[in-house]
Amino acid sequence: MCGIVGYIGHREAYPVIIKGLKRLEYRGYDSAGVVLYDGNDLKLSKTKGKVSDLEARAQEEISLTGTIGIGHTRWATHGVPNDVNSHPHFSNSGNLVIVHNGIIENYEPLKKELISRGYTFKSDTDTEVLVNLIEDVKKKDNLKLGKAVQIALNQVVGAYAIAVFDRERPNEIVAARLGSPLAIGIGKDEFFVASDASPFIEYTSNAIYLEDEEMAVIRLHKPMKIRKIKDDSLVDPYVQELQMNLEQIEKNGYDHFMLKEIYEQPAVIKDTYRGRLHANEGLIKMAGIEDNLQKFLNADRILIVACGTSWHAGLVAEYIFEEFTRIPVEVEYASEFRYRNPIINANDVVIAISQSGETADTLAAIKLAKEHGAFVFGVCNVVGSSISRETHAGAYTHAGPEIGVASTKAFTTQITVLTLIALRLASAKGTLSNSAYHRYLQELEIMPEKVAEALEVNDKVQAIAEIYKDAPNCLYLGRGYNFPVALEGALKLKEISYIHAEGYPAAEMKHGPIALIDEQMPVVVIAQKQEHYDKIVSNIQEIKSRSGKIIAVVTSGDTQVRELADHVIEIPSTVDALSPLLTTIPLQLLSYHIAVMRGCNVDQPRNLAKSVTVE
Ligand code: F6R
Repeated sequence: MCGIVGYIGHREAYPVIIKGLKRLEYRGYDSAGVVLYDGNDLKLSKTKGKVSDLEARAQEEISLTGTIGIGHTRWATHGVPNDVNSHPHFSNSGNLVIVHNGIIENYEPLKKELISRGYTFKSDTDTEVLVNLIEDVKKKDNLKLGKAVQIALNQVVGAYAIAVFDRERPNEIVAARLGSPLAIGIGKDEFFVASDASPFIEYTSNAIYLEDEEMAVIRLHKPMKIRKIKDDSLVDPYVQELQMNLEQIEKNGYDHFMLKEIYEQPAVIKDTYRGRLHANEGLIKMAGIEDNLQKFLNADRILIVACGTSWHAGLVAEYIFEEFTRIPVEVEYASEFRYRNPIINANDVVIAISQSGETADTLAAIKLAKEHGAFVFGVCNVVGSSISRETHAGAYTHAGPEIGVASTKAFTTQITVLTLIALRLASAKGTLSNSAYHRYLQELEIMPEKVAEALEVNDKVQAIAEIYKDAPNCLYLGRGYNFPVALEGALKLKEISYIHAEGYPAAEMKHGPIALIDEQMPVVVIAQKQEHYDKIVSNIQEIKSRSGKIIAVVTSGDTQVRELADHVIEIPSTVDALSPLLTTIPLQLLSYHIAVMRGCNVDQPRNLAKSVTVE
């Protein structure tokens, strides 16, 4: 978490950095800061609050000139969000300045050691320790910045993406990464450093993504040197051509990124299956699966590891994989998996799901699975992300940049990819009847139109949101394929509107949560005309007889639930297994509208960050 931006070149650095930080605010937004160098002075401005607060303050506080600078938008780990703890941080001499994304785990002994040598600290951060450690190393042997950074980083334990600047070497920025992402944009006589490529997309489409334990010394008019931090070996820079465009990372007339991303779902689901789904020929072609088909077919079981919304997509996949392929599936929170000494066999296939591809717990789970000899397959959205590189093979979701902190299109595209995989395996194993297999392919192909139709409930959902926006609690119920959708609906509501919400399998209600139901309690029930329809109708009866308020997501044309529910939201019918792609749409819209009506910051909910690179 935290976003960093650096610039060195011929432009004014300030506007590049500020615009870049705004694009990275999804990574953290509790404080922000910038340092500029104008050839004489290092000028610092930083503040608790958002990048817009920084802008207001910087204009008052410093002159905004200078063609070198670094900036930061923070998600606090060490030290509360306040002005002093905000980055950038100076070393004691005032010569070195740093921005950092990550955590230095052994900062305490390092700090003690530095204090014993006379260093003083203004902030509570681990980052201020790191910059002084670099200074200490540099001074001791009169080293250049790059060497000092390298030696200092070899002493730290933890995760970092850093950009460091030395006023005594004003033509260079040193950048390094371990566990937190870092991209370097290469323009004509200019360089950009950032947590992802979005800050420099309008200036260059050439980028280098540093690998873990690599550092770059970026000098104007000089070839860039990338080295391994541990053994000092030089690395051949691999320059990638970026696929991202500016339109994808702007709101395009929508009030919020979240709403834009909800509405993008028909298009991105199509992007996800484009070139992979050939419904007329009855084929699914996915290189990552074809190349490793035997591994999947010989697997004793599939383990899915993920966090948050991606974990919910994993739960949907569990139902789909077991139904389609008869391969046993277990779904684990990556954070639990990595620390509980799980049983992992060489014959297991582990699927890691992650939108950002940077989630620390999921990355650690992958490493653990690899150590045990399992084959690890990644389902990621962000191309070139750490998880996509750490896994043996994988499939991208092609959802495009997801900027709203609450995941929406990532969820539906993850389910789309996982369904394609399950169908491909089912066809290889012969575990689905021919007719069922072809039906799924056909249904998947027309899913974008059905999702577009499901989005037409927006006005109706907005009206329902108006009624329940002040509810203190909300319950979400679903069965079968739609149980994980209930969990996801509850997560969306709590994370962006701060209303307490719980998702349950509908039948579990009578084992406890039913005690919560009274006339104040809205209950969102996913009541599709599918296998367990009668059972879910009975559950609705149980809520009704306890005066709960029922918001039912029903299949278009449903009459039975309409008679019982206070509100019905109709969505198109589809095969049971694919229904999560539709039932999730009104739940995303409901949480969105409630959050807007409550005046919450939809795209940047409190305490959250888009990419959770700390444990
Ligand atoms: C919820 C949300 C989070 C993420 C979780 C995993 O809306 O966005 O729960 O799903 O932090 O993130 P990724 O998928 O990037 O690994």
